[in-house]
Amino acid sequence: MAKLKVGVLISGRGSNMAALIQAAQASDYPAEIACVISNRADAAGLETARKAGISTEVISHRDYPDRETFDRDVSAALERHRVELVALAGFMRIQSPWFPERWSGRQINIHPSLLPAFPGLHVQRQALNAGVRLSGCTVHFVTPDLDAGPIIAQAAVPVLAGDTEETLSARILRQEHRLYPLVLRWIAEGRVAVAGGRVTVRDVSPGATLLFSPEP
Ligand code: GAR
Repeated sequence: MAKLKVGVLISGRGSNMAALIQAAQASDYPAEIACVISNRADAAGLETARKAGISTEVISHRDYPDRETFDRDVSAALERHRVELVALAGFMRIQSPWFPERWSGRQINIHPSLLPAFPGLHVQRQALNAGVRLSGCTVHFVTPDLDAGPIIAQAAVPVLAGDTEETLSARILRQEHRLYPLVLRWIAEGRVAVAGGRVTVRDVSPGATLLFSPEP
């Protein structure tokens, strides 16, 4: 069967992108990374993608007068690569409403909290300040609202006494790298459906869409 063609958008380190690339290297993985696009030329993830033989593009938002014009060029680049699904992986640009509409139901994001708690920036600081005992990460379809949209799956981790933004980020990131390839697989296998803003994943065990990792 043809593999689902995925375009990954990044702005920086690209460790989630790397997790998707690594998963897609397995011959039985149902998705392939068709291209990686960064809005920043200095994103470290670009080099990782190039080394993996994936075609990369830099489309700098600074070259555009407004968000929608930038978004339209990113979309055109994705279409040139015949992308069927967009995966945001640390892409730190707010999109104009045009883009999520254009890719509605075909764009996913990973965010380092149990949404709808703590959208936006400084996510772990928000979690630590709130005193939550559980945090984690969320993979969701993208809608025009920031870090919002139908939730596909989450991975939870404990917040431990003495945690700093760095230790909590690292604990969550390990789960991001498990969760994102798993969800991409489900989508590529055609198991994921959205109705009334809620997601169902067919033919997975009950509870498969919530990972819990108690390890520190
Ligand atoms: C990840 O923790 C991702 O969840 C987060 O940025 C980091 C990117 O790291 N994304 C967001 O906060 C989106 N709102 P990475 O470049 O190593 O994947």
